[in-house]
Amino acid sequence: MKILVVGSGGREHALCWRLMRSASVDRVFCAPGNAGTGAMADNVDVAAADLDGLARFALRERIDLTVVGPEVPLAAGIKERFSHDNLVLFGPSKRAAELEGSKVFAKQLMRRFGIPTAEFRTFEDYNRAARYVADAGVPLVIKADGLAAGKGVIVTSTAEEALDAVGKVMKGAFGSAGAHVVIEERLEGEEASIIAITDGKTILSLPSSQDHKAAYDNDEGPNTGGMGAYSPAPVVTEKVMDKVIGDVLVQTVHAMEHVGRPYVGVIYAGIMVTSHGIRVLEFNCRFGDPETQPLMLRVEGDFAGALMLAATGKLEEAELDVNDKSVVAVVMASEGYPGKYEKGKVISGIDEAEAVPGVTVFHAGTKRNRENAVVTDGGRVLAVAAEGKDIREAQSRAYEGVDKIHYDGAWCRRDIAAKALKRDS
Ligand code: AMP
Ligand code: GLY
Repeated sequence: MKILVVGSGGREHALCWRLMRSASVDRVFCAPGNAGTGAMADNVDVAAADLDGLARFALRERIDLTVVGPEVPLAAGIKERFSHDNLVLFGPSKRAAELEGSKVFAKQLMRRFGIPTAEFRTFEDYNRAARYVADAGVPLVIKADGLAAGKGVIVTSTAEEALDAVGKVMKGAFGSAGAHVVIEERLEGEEASIIAITDGKTILSLPSSQDHKAAYDNDEGPNTGGMGAYSPAPVVTEKVMDKVIGDVLVQTVHAMEHVGRPYVGVIYAGIMVTSHGIRVLEFNCRFGDPETQPLMLRVEGDFAGALMLAATGKLEEAELDVNDKSVVAVVMASEGYPGKYEKGKVISGIDEAEAVPGVTVFHAGTKRNRENAVVTDGGRVLAVAAEGKDIREAQSRAYEGVDKIHYDGAWCRRDIAAKALKRDS
């Protein structure tokens, strides 16, 4: 098969890396890709949002299967655009992608079908929302309705903070994403990501993982796209996993069918394990970034074949081989991220990092400059992923790898996977 991966981050490098190792794959292209995907697959100079350009390329190159990384092309209808040309693409339709694209839609679906999630209200009117917040008397989370690149969620502790957040969300801080607001009870517990693939009938879950969204150690500082991830997440016991599959994934896929939005693609449930059981925090309609980086080191066998079967409604014929290793991926960022940062810093030491046993370095915001050196080109630059017999070994190898890599302003969290170790001890 010839595969096209759409996107340019660490998730897409990890997908390319795994897909290249699938028995059924002859060639992998990545549009637009980064320096990492360019070294192993063929980068294609077409933006992830250029749906016509991507479809033209897929037709010209006779691509057998397209795998979409980011949510934006899915929300823009890349599935429909490709279907129009009879091109096979693994990912949900525009209407199905609203499961991620509209928090109001997702919450209402969960309420209607009894899928466990935080109690909530939705508002379109600022004054009503403000009155509700003033009287609520419990800690609240304020969420903009639409896609806000992970930044449309504000977790608050006091009525004052909540009021301020409603103002920010509803009065334009998140553009049209904020016109409609979800206000929900603030839950306490440990988070995990459950990522599965589905053809709308069969669901195959990948191993559990955990992201680290806050910028700094001990989950302090502003939210980011994700500063590291590991798999498996010990908070996801077998019992929790069974609950998520049965009460969340199966129910949601049924519900989507029921409301006329049949769901094919990745279904990603961000959950909180609370003292009252599991609750869904959010759905995503794509692979997680950076969770995909550790997950691709755990999936084995013909992953491309499984995605193809999912895209063509035959997932029941697929098997997903998963190893029982532990994997930790540490994101290295640019100075200033998640705020403003400079690009173009020369990166050294990647080969030395990959010489550490079990280490694979996935590129995110990188490119080659005119002198052909690998330089920084984004806020999240690399994910140094390491496998080990347990989380402790994986973590120590990952940081050994990190310490071999240098560029101006490089930094990372030093506590990725610490929660898993605390649990074990
Ligand atoms: P979301 O994009 O909806 O997953 O929210 C982003 C982050 O906000 C989550 O990963 C949680 O850390 C936090 N969050 C969201 N909803 C809640 C909630 N109801 N209670 C506590 N924290 C939440
Ligand atoms: N890691 C969180 C996300 O991909 O949305």
